[in-house]
Amino acid sequence: KKVVYFNEVDSTNVIAKQLGKTPGYHGTLVLAEQQNAGRGRLGRKWSTSKGDGIWMTLILQPQIRIEHASMLTLVTALAVNQGIRKVTGLNSFIKWPNDIVMNGKKVCGILTEMSTINEKLECIVIGIGINANRDSFPDELKNTATSLKLESKKEIDRVSLIASVMKYFEMYYEMFKKEENLKEHVKDYNEMLINRNRQVKIVGNDSEYIGLALGINETGALLVQTDETIRGERKTVIKTV
Ligand code: BTN
Repeated sequence: KKVVYFNEVDSTNVIAKQLGKTPGYHGTLVLAEQQNAGRGRLGRKWSTSKGDGIWMTLILQPQIRIEHASMLTLVTALAVNQGIRKVTGLNSFIKWPNDIVMNGKKVCGILTEMSTINEKLECIVIGIGINANRDSFPDELKNTATSLKLESKKEIDRVSLIASVMKYFEMYYEMFKKEENLKEHVKDYNEMLINRNRQVKIVGNDSEYIGLALGINETGALLVQTDETIRGERKTVIKTV
């Protein structure tokens, strides 16, 4: 397993995708002190500051069914959350599917991207952004983002945190590989789920509804209990998101 370290890049995900096109990079971690064009989910930007965060991307070249790849994002969320708890002693939680939050604010985001190398091998890159020792955020993020240092009032040892996250990842990844599902993660994951047994609003493309978040199932889908009118009758149903 290799670590590739940069002072400054546009995005560690972009570098990882480039490297990951060649077989032999399974397990390689790309790290940077600063990203000039950090990428977030849904085409958003990811704001980074120099030298005080953990901006890294893990390259995987697993022989798994491509439709199972999205579960790896949840595996990663679980690993990051456990790593943060272990190293900082803080009570972080997972916001489904893959944000890590503390006191209602985000400390970590995960962006998984994939491409096909050949008919047998997929390249999956998992980008992890942890606001570790960041002291401040731009105005537009102040209310929604926080850092481990701001929460704990202590400087975080980034190397220990990376090592711990990777150790947990390896463990949870091996569990995933057995049957390519989250059967053995469901309990741990649901215990860390911030909105568990709380009312959540599910916003779809053309509809939205309120329900009770019950937790994930072995595919990583969120189970939500809600009331629905079916043929004139009010019924409690469980939907998957
Ligand atoms: C999100 O929108 O929540 C996902 C953010 C992912 C950010 C990380 S930082 C390291 C890696 N490189 C990127 O450009 N993005 C991910």
